[in-house]
Amino acid sequence: MAVLQVEGGRKLFGEMRIHGAKNSALPLLTAALICDGETILENCPNLSDVDYTIDILKTLGCTIEREGSTLVINSSNAYGSTVPEKYMQKMRSSVLFIGAMLSKCGSARVTYPGGCELGPRPIDLHLKSIGTLGVDINERHGKIDCRCVGRPQGAVITLPFVSVGSTENAILCSVKAHGTTKILNAAAEPEIIDLCEFLNKCGADVRGAGTGTITINGVNRLHGCTHRIIPDRIEAATYMSACAVTGGRMRLTHICTENIQPVLYAFRESGCTVDLDENSLFISAPKRLSRIKLVKTQPYPGFPTDAQAPLMSMAAVANGTSIFIETIFSDRFKHIEGLTRFGANIKSEQSVAVVEGVEELYGTKVYAPDLRAGASYIVSALSANGISEIDGMVHINRGYENISENLNALGANTQIKEE
Ligand code: UD1
Repeated sequence: MAVLQVEGGRKLFGEMRIHGAKNSALPLLTAALICDGETILENCPNLSDVDYTIDILKTLGCTIEREGSTLVINSSNAYGSTVPEKYMQKMRSSVLFIGAMLSKCGSARVTYPGGCELGPRPIDLHLKSIGTLGVDINERHGKIDCRCVGRPQGAVITLPFVSVGSTENAILCSVKAHGTTKILNAAAEPEIIDLCEFLNKCGADVRGAGTGTITINGVNRLHGCTHRIIPDRIEAATYMSACAVTGGRMRLTHICTENIQPVLYAFRESGCTVDLDENSLFISAPKRLSRIKLVKTQPYPGFPTDAQAPLMSMAAVANGTSIFIETIFSDRFKHIEGLTRFGANIKSEQSVAVVEGVEELYGTKVYAPDLRAGASYIVSALSANGISEIDGMVHINRGYENISENLNALGANTQIKEE
């Protein structure tokens, strides 16, 4: 098991290049299954979740080559329609293969997906949307068997609440359907726009991405294309938090300034200066952060739930009381227990956390229970007095490429120890 050792109290300075977005890369790789021929994905992050997705594509008959951050996927001979349980268990986004396999070959056999435990994460909306598209779904003993006669059938899908994954699955399943599909109350995340732009380059007819209504006119076939994955807005917010707690100054390059907007108010409220130019951002932190009055997670363009934990690490050392309200996942305060081990003063009740900023945190040993909790522990460890050890790197490696090397290049002192 890998453990990250962090010496706290060093200011972070310098420049860091943000990688491609994990939450775009996974659906885009999945979508590549539907295309005939070669798909080239540039700016693909090197993450364990990407590796798991590649494993699934290979199982289904795709060939994949990686050169640096470019992946070349050939799906011409891919007709597998079963994702084995051991792969489904690895991550939540494996569920997107249902829509992709149905589009590719009219059937999909999967089990329930794994991923971060953020409370109950059912896939009922995914299955209901896919069922609306004329697909027969049989669930027995944890196995899900989906089939359609010929191609899926276009329909109106109304999502009762915004779900990123369900929107993506409905798009993947309907892209080659007979007729037109409308998704009402669709998610508007930048990663959805990226997926739709990719599909359109491959010959699809998807309109309205980034709004609450997405219209998909089914086409007969998709071909490959070359596509550059958008920058990871959560990775950017995490490094900004790391900079903020250490009182540092940092330039983040290769970001999308529009997609990062929903988190900027919180950094500015905490006293950080944030300047944007075309594709980069400069952040300069004060000696002591001020409280962030309210962080309430919402679907895009609201504050992203994935940035809530690292921002709480900022609030933990800020001057004053900050309030966090988590509205997306019922169990996304798992980091609080570990943060209190660092000496943070946080009380939570259901979806609300009250963070009373303290002057200083202390180095400690913690176990990362999920990806973003792990990120918040790293941020706290960077600000803490003394050495910290963060166990559970397996979670952190799912979403952050080379985090130890990147932080060290910015002046931190971290090392990965294999135990
Ligand atoms: C995606 C992101 C994740 C992010 C989340 C919210 C990827 C790979 N993951 O996850 O990082 O935290 O969006 O921005 O892109 N729900 C149901 N039934 C369903 C589907 C969802 O009840 O069938 C609920 C979930 O439990 C949750 C809410 O809907 O409470 C939103 O989840 P959703 O947007 O679907 O998140 P994911 O797509 O899993």
